[in-house]
Amino acid sequence: MSALYISASVAVLALFLLLRGLRLAPTRPLPPGPRGLPFVGNLFQLPSKLMWFQMVEWSKEYGPMFSYTILGQTVIVLTRVKEATDLLDRMSAKTSDRPRMIKLSEHMCRRMEFASSSIAWRSLFGHETIPLLGFDPTKPIEEFSAEIFRCVVPGGSIVDVFRFLNPIILRFKYFRRYSDRCYQTITAFFLKAYSDPQVDTVPSLSSKLKGNKERFGMKDDIDCSWVGGTLFIAAQDTTATSLRWFFVAMLLYPETALAARAQLASVVGDRPPSFSDSERLPQIDALVKELLRWRPAAAGGIPHMANEDIIYKNYLIPKGAIISPVAWSICRDPSLYPNGDTFDPSRFLDEMGNIKRPAQHSHDDYLAFGHGRRICVGKNLAINTLWITIATLLWAFDFQLSVDEHGQEVAPDPMAFWDNGATVWPAKFGARLVPRVEDLREKLKASMGK
Ligand code: HEM
Repeated sequence: MSALYISASVAVLALFLLLRGLRLAPTRPLPPGPRGLPFVGNLFQLPSKLMWFQMVEWSKEYGPMFSYTILGQTVIVLTRVKEATDLLDRMSAKTSDRPRMIKLSEHMCRRMEFASSSIAWRSLFGHETIPLLGFDPTKPIEEFSAEIFRCVVPGGSIVDVFRFLNPIILRFKYFRRYSDRCYQTITAFFLKAYSDPQVDTVPSLSSKLKGNKERFGMKDDIDCSWVGGTLFIAAQDTTATSLRWFFVAMLLYPETALAARAQLASVVGDRPPSFSDSERLPQIDALVKELLRWRPAAAGGIPHMANEDIIYKNYLIPKGAIISPVAWSICRDPSLYPNGDTFDPSRFLDEMGNIKRPAQHSHDDYLAFGHGRRICVGKNLAINTLWITIATLLWAFDFQLSVDEHGQEVAPDPMAFWDNGATVWPAKFGARLVPRVEDLREKLKASMGK
């Protein structure tokens, strides 16, 4: 009797669990997307360079939110402001994880769990601004940054695609000799930058960390040096990428500099601009906004990860899915930015020449800095760096096309890209900078000393 009773109870419980499982099992489909192959998914449809370009193409076919898979890993791609802000800002509690980036965080940057070069160098490490001519102390970071930025792209490294290789790579030094060398070299570099005496009287991140390690939860000097180093890597290449595109914009759309130069002439005259002029130079604000919109430095966006199942627009975004906001497309969303391919700072100005009130959910028209709880922590530093650099460049120089060996002017191609992983530079181009101000060097030197 009791055996029968137990069997019946087990059967009822099993039925209950089965029904509950069926009810809870998400029945919604993934967002549409390109058909892949069994097991490997869409792996072979992804280009090894400029992957976001493929995303832009797929969005034309599958809409503003679509999905693809790489070896069973689902990737949800967002290409419009609405979907990006709904999922990454408004549901940011569920979408702020980062995917596991094995090569990046476990091989190359083992101390990275916290997380234009001259300004970052000064504010992070407290050293003097980098001289325009001569030795650049931050040069060794460039190669390392390029490697890091490649690891951030979904599927950007072999070990992140074929994860089962990780234990083997960890086990055998031979397989990780390159990552080990990078980690050791860059750690030595960061440690020196952190430990060298700060010459600047302005407080820096390093000067704040020194003597306060425990308070900030750092184990040792290496941890502290990696905080500054990580921020420096995030700051340097993104800001420099934007400045490269600034030159391209000025060469291709010289008319857009006229209004800014007229404003500079009336506000600052023959002295270099400074932050104290910012209220009276809205044209520069508009240029910075348009630059970051027209060519967002991290064009493919930085991936997030869903930490629970989400049903959105009747589609399932499963827990563990990578969510990839494509900044290039989001910053061209026609509902906010018509004629998005054209560089036109005036889109941000009203008829009085003041900055327009930004549209709702446009992040004050700075969508290039990402979303939600993961939004770029250096956003303000980046905007200010670009602002003062652009204002000074426009004040100091005319930008002219370079000439080839036949004396013909050569314009940069705005659609020729150099893939740097997470950041996308313009392909190499030439420009001539012609001083517009007398005694430029002396005036710049005098203003830097202030
Ligand atoms: C033009 C310049 C810059 C651009 C376009 C840019 C863009 C971005 C983007 C798109 C993200 C990812 C946001 C997301 O996941 O939704 C990000 C993250 C980050 N940025 Fe920037 N950034 C710039 C400059 C800087 C600067 C100057 C710093 C530091 C001083 C910095 C530090 C960081 C850090 C630490 C993160 C990671 C935040 C996290 O994972 O929580 N960035 N940035």
